[in-house]
Amino acid sequence: MDKLIINGGKPLNGNIEIGGAKNAAVAILPAAVMASVGISVIDNIPEIEDIQCLERIISSLGCKVKRNGNSVEIDSTNITSTNANTEDVRKMRASYYLYGALLGRFGRVKAELPGGCPIGVRPIDQHIKGFEALGASVKIEHGAIEITADRLVGTNIYFDVVSVGATINVMLAAVLAEGTTVLENAAKEPHVVDVANFLNTMGANVKGAGTDVIRIVGVESLTGCNYSVIPDQMEAATYMIAAAACGGKVIVKNIIPKHLESVSAKLVEMGVKIEEGDDYIVVQSDRNIKGVNIKTLPYPGFPTDAQQPMSTLLCIANGRSIINESIWESRLKHVDELKKMGASIKVEGRIAIIDGVGKLTGAAVKATDLRAGAAMVIAGLLAEGRSEISSIEHIDRGYPHIEDKFRSLGADIRREVG
Ligand code: EPZ
Repeated sequence: MDKLIINGGKPLNGNIEIGGAKNAAVAILPAAVMASVGISVIDNIPEIEDIQCLERIISSLGCKVKRNGNSVEIDSTNITSTNANTEDVRKMRASYYLYGALLGRFGRVKAELPGGCPIGVRPIDQHIKGFEALGASVKIEHGAIEITADRLVGTNIYFDVVSVGATINVMLAAVLAEGTTVLENAAKEPHVVDVANFLNTMGANVKGAGTDVIRIVGVESLTGCNYSVIPDQMEAATYMIAAAACGGKVIVKNIIPKHLESVSAKLVEMGVKIEEGDDYIVVQSDRNIKGVNIKTLPYPGFPTDAQQPMSTLLCIANGRSIINESIWESRLKHVDELKKMGASIKVEGRIAIIDGVGKLTGAAVKATDLRAGAAMVIAGLLAEGRSEISSIEHIDRGYPHIEDKFRSLGADIRREVG
């Protein structure tokens, strides 16, 4: 198993280019499978393990998938199977977007239940509620799901919780349903909007994405198209937080600053200097950080995916900070790792009480999930001395070339191939 070795304590300076959004791309590739005519060429696809996994799954259905740098070409005109039963399906969360996509196009899908980060119970009841409301039958047996429908008919669906996955998945199934579907209490995340834009470029009729009511008028068929995925707001947030934690001046480029407003606002509250441009943010820090309180919320609230990296920064803040993780019940597992580096954190349920300590010290720690991994990298970068981060396969699932990118900013970080 590979490890990241970090000699911490170096400031970060320079420019960093952010890649395409993982959580948009992992939904857009399954959406591309819905085209019955033409080829889709999708740009700004990040080079990460989750995408490679999805490319293998889509190929196993009979799609032709070609990667060319950051661009992926998908020809789904001759799909031979609606059974997604490979080991890869179990490895990642977003494989569940094939449920909506294949159900929408073929009226049937059989797949293993999805995997993903161990951050709490991850129910799919809202996805199922949506599919059933459209007229599908859902059966779960032996760890696999089978969804079938003679026809899908649009209807009004009110989600009981705000769910990114359910909003996107039901939207996928509804674009080829008969009549109009209205999704209420929908998630408003930028990647929901990106998937809707992609579907519309394929010929769908989706309106209102980005608000909590999405209206979908079903169309007969979808056609392959050219598209470019939005920048990854969580990769950007990670580099912004790292810059704040290590000190220095970093220009985070190729982003949509609006998508990062809640993170930028928190950093400003902490005393970090933030300057926004059209497609970049400059982060300047002298490491004199004020403690703050954070509650994670659906967009446009503070994102749960930035909570763990932010908690590392709060370890060296002045005074006490309180984090309330309201989305996932087990997203504080990284705290035990931070404590090995000298952090003072008490966890009570979903609340973490962080008392700022002047410094962290390097240690051997592990990445317990994807964003926990990012949190440990930031901890290693800001700590005094040597850190060794194991289980970095979690990090590789979502961060392209993380060690090269941090090294380009002046960090002393390298991968030890295991
Ligand atoms: C997406 O997961 C992201 N993953 C997660 O990012 C992110 O943390 C999460 O949204 C919240 O923003 C992908 O996009 C692949 P949800 P998802 O459905 O869609 C409850 C990362 O680090 N819920 O919005 O699975 C659920 O338990 C990953 O990149 C139900 O109760 O999340 C949670 O409390 C980790 N029933 C809340 O809703 C359902 O049917 C939000 O979950 C679905 C969800």
